[in-house]
Amino acid sequence: MTYTPNVWPPKKIIFASDHAGFSLKKPLMDWAVRQGYAVEDLGADESNSVDYPDYADLIAEYLSKDKDSAGVLVCGTGIGISIGANRHAHIRAALCHDVTTAKLCREHNDANVLALGARIIGVQTGVDCLEAFLGASFGGGRHSKRVAKLG
Ligand code: RB5
Repeated sequence: MTYTPNVWPPKKIIFASDHAGFSLKKPLMDWAVRQGYAVEDLGADESNSVDYPDYADLIAEYLSKDKDSAGVLVCGTGIGISIGANRHAHIRAALCHDVTTAKLCREHNDANVLALGARIIGVQTGVDCLEAFLGASFGGGRHSKRVAKLG
């Protein structure tokens, strides 16, 4: 089974959140810009209560056209928005709470979306997760056939 890994580091980082995720998404975007990454924000902000599946779908649609980019999704827990994103076959969204999971989701799973919970982790942990996610490469080898089986 052949597997073509994601382009990494990504050409651009696409961000999306619901209202509950905005307080973490904003500092993560600011950090990414300071690091020199191209970023795009698909919404939302914190001014209105919105539905997280809509933002998961937006990022999935974006990444279906721009396969060289990666995504960051944030909701209150990270759970709902990662479930929504993973309903799309070309998305592997990893809900991470620490640097270890953020690094391993790249090395083992070739995740193309990092999902985080703004009500669960602090800003510094979120930045550390994003830095680990962007800095880790897919390991290939035995992991390739497993990721290929994910469809
Ligand atoms: C919104 O209140 C909250 O339910 C949502 O952000 C998320 O945590 C769902 O998984």
